[in-house]
Amino acid sequence: MDGNGRWAKERNLKRTAGHEEGAKVVREITQHCAALGVKYLTLYAFSTENWNRPKLEVEFLMKLLEKYLKSELDIYMQNDIRFRAIGDMSKFSKSLQKQIALTESTTAKNKGLTQVLALNYGSQDEITRAVKRLTQKGLEISQENIEACLDTAGFPDVDILIRTSGEVRISNFMLWQCAYAEMFFVQKFWPNFTKYDLDDIIDDFIKRERRFGGV
Ligand code: IPE
Ligand code: MG
Repeated sequence: MDGNGRWAKERNLKRTAGHEEGAKVVREITQHCAALGVKYLTLYAFSTENWNRPKLEVEFLMKLLEKYLKSELDIYMQNDIRFRAIGDMSKFSKSLQKQIALTESTTAKNKGLTQVLALNYGSQDEITRAVKRLTQKGLEISQENIEACLDTAGFPDVDILIRTSGEVRISNFMLWQCAYAEMFFVQKFWPNFTKYDLDDIIDDFIKRERRFGGV
């Protein structure tokens, strides 16, 4: 979800207004995916590198996250959405960690869409933590065992990767899980992204021939 800051700048607003608008789009796209029958939607909300932003912006994002999770609980329950977080939660405040755990446990039995928020997430950090876990457990180094120790254990690999705002980079997102992802880079800033844009991408995705290294 890239381009919140530039969306705001374009309108002479503070960057934080862009994040607020972006959160509304998260809600819209999540509900749309649930209605379409998508099984997993992962949203990259805060990266391990985002701590390098100005302190006030980081604080705002933390508050917004907590507010979003609180206000979303009803929507998760009404739409049968299961919530999961990936990333290293240990760097967050106790109250945000509690809210994340509560949202996960309350929605754990929901059977529709799994909405995954990547929070203090970096793929290199995730793989490093997975390898640590693997050695702590004394497990053999195999593809299956590495996957079982990733934050995404039990989740399917990525089919569609979308990045908004015109940047053509992966920026440390699910490097392992995107091995055969189909990539879509769209010009629009995240706050301008709509469910119709997602529909167009899915239509395009269906037409792509995926060979997974075969012929
Ligand atoms: C992405 O928007 C949202 C988060 C990282 C929370 P940006 O904040 O990166 O927006 P730009 O790239 O500055 O426009
Ligand atoms: Mg950005």
